Amino acid sequence: MSQLEFRGFAGGAWAAEAHGGVDAPSVLLLLERAREPEPWRPIAQALAEAGRHVVRLAIEEVGPSTEDLRAILGQMASRPVVVASALWADEAVMALSGEGSHLATGLVLVDSFTKDGAVAATELRQETAQAAPLQIPLLVVQGGEGGGALDLNALKTRATHVSAVQVEADGVASTDDLEAFNAVLIDFLEQHAPRAPIEFRNGSDARTLRDALGCFATGVTIVTAFTAAGQPAGLTANSFTSVSLDPPLVLICVGKSASTLPALMAADRFAINVLHMGQQSTSNRFTRKDVDRFETVAWERGEFGPPLLTGSLANFECERHAVHEGGDHVMLVGKVLRARFEPHRDPLLYFRGKYRRLHMS
Ligand SMILES: Cc1cc2nc3c(=O)[nH]c(=O)nc-3n(C[C@H](O)[C@H](O)[C@H](O)COP(=O)(O)O)c2cc1C
Repeated sequence: MSQLEFRGFAGGAWAAEAHGGVDAPSVLLLLERAREPEPWRPIAQALAEAGRHVVRLAIEEVGPSTEDLRAILGQMASRPVVVASALWADEAVMALSGEGSHLATGLVLVDSFTKDGAVAATELRQETAQAAPLQIPLLVVQGGEGGGALDLNALKTRATHVSAVQVEADGVASTDDLEAFNAVLIDFLEQHAPRAPIEFRNGSDARTLRDALGCFATGVTIVTAFTAAGQPAGLTANSFTSVSLDPPLVLICVGKSASTLPALMAADRFAINVLHMGQQSTSNRFTRKDVDRFETVAWERGEFGPPLLTGSLANFECERHAVHEGGDHVMLVGKVLRARFEPHRDPLLYFRGKYRRLHMS
């Protein structure tokens, strides 16, 4: 987070907080102060994580005038999408209508909190609604209760592209509502102020390739086998793939530098343990070099020999079927001798370098 300062119309200073890289497309948040914790913080963080440069104007009792807002918009690194809540909707609409339309790429009007935690419905002054031919895309996000005060029909006759979304319950209120709001907002930003996609080409840095590969969401497994000395060994891996149903084959890719690889190559049998949501700490443990990975984890010997992590979402007991060379990894193909699974638990997921959970409604 960094602090910025803008000059207003008459030379006054306007402080702002910025999140995310300055080269990313910008978003200007005009949200009034609310109860703690302020709901805009997670919004700003989510937008920054989604690749946006988020600037939140520090508005105290008095907000910027239409002229101030135009002056501030003119100083931003790139033409932003403006997100304005209840109290600042009028100023935002006035600043971006008519000759101000080149100052932003989109406008979002949203219901939000007041200081006492009540929902403030976004409402335009009659003069604003009547005097506002908006040339830029407009999104209206309304809360369920107390929302809906905006006259959408009136807006539709004055703005070019209007879309409206009803966010459940109290607008930008609980965490679930926030997630829904962020999803709606990011969708609007991607449509109307898209980011240039990031590109990897053979020879570019490995970090970009990792980021590209991280777009593929996976589950998480721990691959286990006994060493020649009879000790259980294992490592966390998300490169698990089903290969064939008949014969039943699965695949795992293991780094050539992994200390567990010799045990996996030497053992005829190995197991793939698919992790559930409650096994995140086990997943972390099986990447560490400074601990006995199996010490605090319940495990048992499988029917066909390899060590199994007890209570996993699924265990696949495999016989080594083939080993293929794969650059800095080895592709280990296993024939499934036995699979057992727990049908009711949710999986541990991995996406963009972070653990995730299923989010299903
Ligand atoms: C979510 C996640 C997925 C991983 N997937 C793989 C994988 O598919 N193959 C691999 O070789 N390493 C993978 N790793 C890294 C290994 O778990 C890590 O390098 C481990 O420390 C190797 O330990 P070792 O060298 O003691 O065997 C993954 C790590 C994490 C956190």
